[in-house]
Amino acid sequence: MQKGLLDLHNVMRWLILLFALLAIIKGIGGMNGKKAFAKGDKRIALFLMICCDIQLLLGLVLYVLAGWWSVLTGGSAMASNYNRFFAVEHAVGMLVAIILVHLGYSATKKNIPDGSKFKRLFWFTLIAMIIILATIPWPGREVARPLFPGMSV
Ligand code: HEM
Repeated sequence: MQKGLLDLHNVMRWLILLFALLAIIKGIGGMNGKKAFAKGDKRIALFLMICCDIQLLLGLVLYVLAGWWSVLTGGSAMASNYNRFFAVEHAVGMLVAIILVHLGYSATKKNIPDGSKFKRLFWFTLIAMIIILATIPWPGREVARPLFPGMSV
């Protein structure tokens, strides 16, 4: 089961990056205030948030199943870069990014001018995207994991 969850967590990353990119592009397109904030724009922010929430749930389950919770509570989270990355940096970084994605979506529901909705969606998603990109265990890093399930790093 753990392998299946990890594979799903791996693939979900691409959906998140895709929706984040779309939200950023939408944000740029409407920032000047000349475009109406449409249902489709809100839907992209919603899909991004839902994917992030599923990813959070998968991540939390994996955190326990893969033993990272024990690493953290056992005091060996700082014993190596690998431990620090998965026990602390990845989990905390992604948690912050997911909170920012939520803030971006909630801005789209506020009673504010459409230009401000686009602007807030853009900034919250851009910062979230930077954190996500920085805390993914990309191939080539010390903490490398495969780009897709079954691939070698
Ligand atoms: C936007 C959110 C996130 C993204 C894009 C993401 C992405 C990834 C990726 C690409 C991997 C490597 C998968 C593989 O080895 O095939 C991974 C592993 C992992 N992630 Fe996340 N993650 C996110 C959020 C989280 C959160 C919030 C947590 C925990 C609270 C978490 C916990 C983990 C754990 C524990 C592993 C490694 C499991 C193991 O050692 O086998 N992730 N994540």
